[in-house]
Amino acid sequence: MDERELVIHLEDISFAHPGGPRVLDNVCLDLYRGDRIGLMGPNGSGKTTLFHVIMGLLKPTAGRMEIFRKPVREERDFVKVRGRIGLLFQDADDQLFSPTVLEDVVFGPLNLGKSREEARDIARRTLELLGLSSFEDRITHKLSGGEKRLVSLATVLAMEPEVLLLDEPTTGLDEPTREKLVEVLSRLDLSYILISHEFDFLARTTQSILAMEKGRILRDEEAKIHYHFHKHPLGTVPHEHD
Ligand SMILES: Nc1ncnc2c1ncn2[C@@H]1O[C@H](COP(=O)(O)OP(=O)(O)O)[C@@H](O)[C@H]1O
Ligand SMILES: [Mg+2]
Repeated sequence: MDERELVIHLEDISFAHPGGPRVLDNVCLDLYRGDRIGLMGPNGSGKTTLFHVIMGLLKPTAGRMEIFRKPVREERDFVKVRGRIGLLFQDADDQLFSPTVLEDVVFGPLNLGKSREEARDIARRTLELLGLSSFEDRITHKLSGGEKRLVSLATVLAMEPEVLLLDEPTTGLDEPTREKLVEVLSRLDLSYILISHEFDFLARTTQSILAMEKGRILRDEEAKIHYHFHKHPLGTVPHEHD
């Protein structure tokens, strides 16, 4: 028995868009507090959908979910979940909507009921953590892709979540910024699931890596074959097989 707190528990979760094929097919997944799990899989395998189901943005067509040890089914259950789990969207433009960077980062804490001063303090601290202090007054929509990515992460972290769901956080990041992200993630005392196509980044930021294919999370023995197949073309740094 694992004595740590089971934070996210998915039991045979399936999902299909109306009239469409199954995008998630009997997915089972457990995230314990302190876990850092990587999730890899080809485009269209259902990774983003899985995150949206966990956040209650999409309703599963079958299966059971418990988050923070409580069953979650209805919108009001998910409202609580969204206060404690931070989702970094795959597309930064889904995350950022304020004119300036500081306003974007202040928005979350304000929305959680903090005073304007508190929210500004938290936002400034978070921007500093990510090396973005000089970005406060920048116009959000004029930032580069990589800069938007980091500011998006700041908006998520400013809400002081207990768990992060990171959907391809390295997209558009140059090498120094990627290093910064590895360092920030290792410093944070957070549980997370991280979607990435980059095996070497995942190897440095997670303890275990799950493979997803056609809406299913592969079992260990299937996944080994999968990694062997995909690892070398994806990696840029020499690495060993387990
Ligand atoms: N709004 C939608 N309506 C219908 N199909 C969708 C919609 N959004 C995503 N899909 C389909 O769901 C599948 C899984 O998508 P997604 O979860 O985004 O995959 P991944 O993140 O692994 O690349 C894909 O086949 C995609 O085309
Ligand atoms: Mg995706």
